[in-house]
Amino acid sequence: MNGACRMNNGLVDKFGRKHEYLRISVTDRCNLRCAYCMGMEGVPLMDHSKILHYEEIIKVVRAAAELGITRIRLTGGEPLARKGLERLVGGIAEIPGIRDISMTTNGILLPPMAATLKKAGLNRVNISLDSLKPDVYREITRLGNLADAQAGIFAALEHGLHPVKINVVLMQGVNDEEIPSFLRLAQDLPLKVRFIEYMPIDSHDNEWRGKYLPLQAVLDKAREMGFPLTLLNQNQDGGGPAEMYSMPGALGAIGLIRPISQHFCSECNRLRLTAEGHIKPCLYWQDELSVRPVIDDPDAVKALLQKALDFKRKKHEMSRELLAQERQDKGHRGMSAIGG
Ligand code: 5AD
Ligand code: SF4
Repeated sequence: MNGACRMNNGLVDKFGRKHEYLRISVTDRCNLRCAYCMGMEGVPLMDHSKILHYEEIIKVVRAAAELGITRIRLTGGEPLARKGLERLVGGIAEIPGIRDISMTTNGILLPPMAATLKKAGLNRVNISLDSLKPDVYREITRLGNLADAQAGIFAALEHGLHPVKINVVLMQGVNDEEIPSFLRLAQDLPLKVRFIEYMPIDSHDNEWRGKYLPLQAVLDKAREMGFPLTLLNQNQDGGGPAEMYSMPGALGAIGLIRPISQHFCSECNRLRLTAEGHIKPCLYWQDELSVRPVIDDPDAVKALLQKALDFKRKKHEMSRELLAQERQDKGHRGMSAIGG
């Protein structure tokens, strides 16, 4: 746990943003087909030889930790769709300087894995759950059963993968009527229920414009229901972009992640590593650098991570797309390859 003394100026970009968080997509495959993330047919099968081995990911994390990265999140696709994830977690947990390992999952494959992952060093999970109605959950995920995702949430609670956070992408006409049900969920269970603004990541722009809903709707609804939300101190959520709110008498809490209506790029502290081994400075822009050619040279990996910071732009431009007629050419990877 010696992150602080390993900083050696670390990963600070030209806007003065210090980077201490690395999100790693371990696969772009998924057992679901969420409509906002991928097509019904899933993602084109990626040749396994193109995916970084766990040993290679661990090399990147070791270099990143030496530059001050302290927190790791495993994402996908669905990270649990990749076999033996506990080996990766265990390998990362041994790296000096890493003090938090989390995972974003749809939860469905979690129940039989939760204990093993916890033992290997996973600290906590975020579980995606966009509806509390079985038919709507199925419609959004195309393949999922709500009860399976709920079993994943209970497994996470039971095995101490705390704090357990729930990610709800709010979509007008799809799940916006469920705001009260999600507020009640945070009343009744010790869950941090985080609403996320629907982002235009893949090629679904017109659909996106019709469903995007600013999260002010959540604050309005809570007030209307007599559950006034009180803004908690910043950094309640581990320095992440969520604004966290408490609710009187609730076991859990509410979070708002508003990349579009209140973008938080000035606080950005993260880099991304794709399953194929590209460092992505931002989930929005196309820029990326392949770590593969230098994977066996720790100093070169460090230099590459620092170079990736030069590509960091001041902010994304998602809100402009609300007005734009044509999509700007700024990205070709869908969310399943970036991991949110
Ligand atoms: N907009 C907002 N959130 C998204 N996610 C996936 N696609 C989008 C999108 N277009 C969320 C998932 C998951 C997290 C990794 O990102 O629901 O919770
Ligand atoms: Fe899978 Fe998550 Fe994409 Fe849904 S949003 S298809 S659960 S990777």
